[in-house]
Amino acid sequence: MSQENNLLKKVISHAKEYGFVFPSSEIYDGLSATYDYGQYGVELKNHLKRYWWEAMVQLNPNIVGLDAAIFMHPTTWKASGHTDAFNDPLIDNKDSKKRYRADVLIEDHIAKIEGKINKEVEKASKRFGDDFDKTQFLATNPRVLQNQEKITKINERLKSSLSSGELTDLKLLIEELGIADPVSGSKNWTEVRQFNLMFSTELGSVADESNKIYLRPETAQGIFVNFLNVQKTGRMRIPFGIAQIGKAFRNEIIARQFIFRMREFEQMEMQFFVKPGEELQWYDQWKEKRMRWHQALGLGEENYRFHDHLNLAHYANAACDIEFQFPMGFKELEGIHSRTDFDLKAHEQHSGKKLQFYDPQEEQSYVPFVIETSIGLDRLFLALLATAYKEETLEDGSNRTVLRLPAPLAPIKAAILPLLNKDDLPEKAQSILNDLRFDFLLQYDAKDAIGRRYRRQDAIGTPFCITVDHQTLEDETVTLRHRDSMKQDRVNIETLKDTLTTHCSLSSLLRQL
Ligand code: GAP
Repeated sequence: MSQENNLLKKVISHAKEYGFVFPSSEIYDGLSATYDYGQYGVELKNHLKRYWWEAMVQLNPNIVGLDAAIFMHPTTWKASGHTDAFNDPLIDNKDSKKRYRADVLIEDHIAKIEGKINKEVEKASKRFGDDFDKTQFLATNPRVLQNQEKITKINERLKSSLSSGELTDLKLLIEELGIADPVSGSKNWTEVRQFNLMFSTELGSVADESNKIYLRPETAQGIFVNFLNVQKTGRMRIPFGIAQIGKAFRNEIIARQFIFRMREFEQMEMQFFVKPGEELQWYDQWKEKRMRWHQALGLGEENYRFHDHLNLAHYANAACDIEFQFPMGFKELEGIHSRTDFDLKAHEQHSGKKLQFYDPQEEQSYVPFVIETSIGLDRLFLALLATAYKEETLEDGSNRTVLRLPAPLAPIKAAILPLLNKDDLPEKAQSILNDLRFDFLLQYDAKDAIGRRYRRQDAIGTPFCITVDHQTLEDETVTLRHRDSMKQDRVNIETLKDTLTTHCSLSSLLRQL
């Protein structure tokens, strides 16, 4: 097993063992690609939501919030293009009966060729040592050039078949490349078919086609249809934004890699309405702002990169992803899109209502252009958990597993631990907890040896442990243990609130933005 998959497996099992993420309805053997967040997971997730919400709504006077319904009028999805075009091309293997996304099979094949190129680079770099010039090697090595040409040709063909809807060509490409079912090795494929990713249900008691409604596949459309409501009631002037956090649902064909690709997930989206012609300047600003927001989390600048979309969707005039180095490699974490006036215009056409802004300076109305920032909350959660997860060997040779979570996001801010479960120490510890619990989520733990209690807190990422001992009863001091350095300081009880506030409040993150 590769190191990356190994890490993902460890993170999944740690998340389950310590109450962060459970498989959904596990007592019935689970439901594929749906997960439940446990007692610590929900705290971490709520902190992430607050970090995003406060960065968007509290720090930007021209951005306001919204909480739209998950069910929307079915015409919404006609207008947005989801009814007709929110499809994935799927293919079945006749022997293994396994279902795949045809484009993903081809992309995985491309990744294998990229792997060959990387191996060539590795070999050459070892051979030439310090003299190795990677750029020159990539531009001149015949085997690398051959493989790069293969990739370019496959990519061109894939893109042209996807954009023209030529599904027979996708099947042909899979056959020509000799792509086999990764599970069974069989090359006995069905035709490629389009599969709409929206979940549907019926409104009311009569199950008929006219009552069919959808679970929203993105939160953004709730924002578009409320553009005028918010603009008028909030007396908003262009440029302004609407932010929303909420569930979205997609019937993903291949849902895998834990909470990276789920069928029910949460999005944090913001639509920023701007004057036509100014959108690309705002697009650049939002790219930079969003990257700064990510980097303030301290997960390492090298773990992020932009991936600009070369093939733009028909409604976009610029788009990129912020990719993060997950255990399975660099993958999309957030999308930033310049969506032109496509959505508002489409809703105007389908609803017959004007969705325009009257610009008093220009003395005219126009349909604003939109910059969208869209991040998956569950992916962000995975990015954080996988990066924070560390197995460490300590100086005395013992091991610990620790979640080095940023303190403002840690589920529990401090554990209060009476050294012994007697001699009035529990009562003193409880009184400290009673004082601090109005400001912080704390945990009281009096069971087992102190070392084991420290390990339990390390495993859930608690930044501080406060140990109450006999000296506390005499001089009102406690031992404050720091999770990352494991250093222990003797401090006065009176200073605890300030220390926790300094390290654990969200404002320490927000001030970096
Ligand atoms: N409104 C634009 C939109 O929905 P998207 O790229 O389809 O764009 C935005 O989704 C973000 O939502 C992605 O960057 C990803 O973080 C998250 N996301 C999308 N599909 C997901 C899934 N099946 N499971 C978890 N997160 C998902």
